Amino acid sequence: MKQITQAAELQAAVATAKQQGLSIGLVPTMGALHKGHLSLISRAIKENDIVVVSLFVNPIQFNNKEDLEKYPRTIDADLQLIATLGADKILAFTPSVDEMYPQGQPSEVYHFGPVEEVMEGPRRPGHFNGVAIVVRRLFDLAQPTRAYFGEKDYQQIAVIRALLEQIKYPIELVPCPIIRADDGLALSSRNMRLSPAARAMAPAINATLEQAAEMAEYEEVDDVKEWVLDTLSTYHLVNAIENLQFEPEYFEIVDAKTLQPISEWNEAGDLGAVGCIAVWLDGVRLIDLVKF
Ligand code: PAJ
Repeated sequence: MKQITQAAELQAAVATAKQQGLSIGLVPTMGALHKGHLSLISRAIKENDIVVVSLFVNPIQFNNKEDLEKYPRTIDADLQLIATLGADKILAFTPSVDEMYPQGQPSEVYHFGPVEEVMEGPRRPGHFNGVAIVVRRLFDLAQPTRAYFGEKDYQQIAVIRALLEQIKYPIELVPCPIIRADDGLALSSRNMRLSPAARAMAPAINATLEQAAEMAEYEEVDDVKEWVLDTLSTYHLVNAIENLQFEPEYFEIVDAKTLQPISEWNEAGDLGAVGCIAVWLDGVRLIDLVKF
């Protein structure tokens, strides 16, 4: 594995690889790597000659200052983990903020239409614009053949798809399945910030969504939505030491492609429906989803 901190050095390495006709996989991350990230990197290694893994906590996609400050940074451990996966193929790109944004705060404004107007969009103003800016910059630097994104951030994939349609780069977008802990909790770098008591409670999110998927066979969309929100809001762990509570921010049932809310199951198109949730627990914002 080679660590690269300078954009120009990455561009030079990519140019050499391209001259040799090699394919390039890109896995954008914000570090604090876990098995979810590693699944994307492993897949990219299988499918490409060279893999660029970026580790960059992108300040312009954080709409909440405290979230940015508290975002876990574990770069040394991250690099060691990456090196175990396929040392000879990987370029680990770890730029500083100045290296990524040499002109200072970027001012581009993207418009992605309906896919960014739901769920995370209105609740995290500027978030998807910040994601689009950094991902486009990474596309420009790494010139990937394929780019890997996790379905854990389902709406982010739709936004990147819309970005690719706008900028018309010939990059194959590869969505990868969500990886969970044994108890069902979707892996997330933010899970590190949960207290032991909150961590013990968090699997109830996935368990509730799985039950919702069963209910969907015989209940209406609105009833399933209401049940999920009620179940989580009133949830208490048996024998809990601390009195923690879930505070759901939203649970939406949407068409899997357009991400627009549906009110009847048969409104969903050929990809079906997904239920996306954001929940606060112990001061940490967790997201998850279930496919119906
Ligand atoms: P980050 O949260 O670090 O996630 C990097 C990639 O890993 C994303 O594509 C995300 O969907 C995927 N991922 C995270 N948890 C996962 C899990 N449990 N299973 C499968 N994939 C998972 O998403 C971002 O960073 C940033 O927005 C980024 C795209 C890097 C732009 O800054």
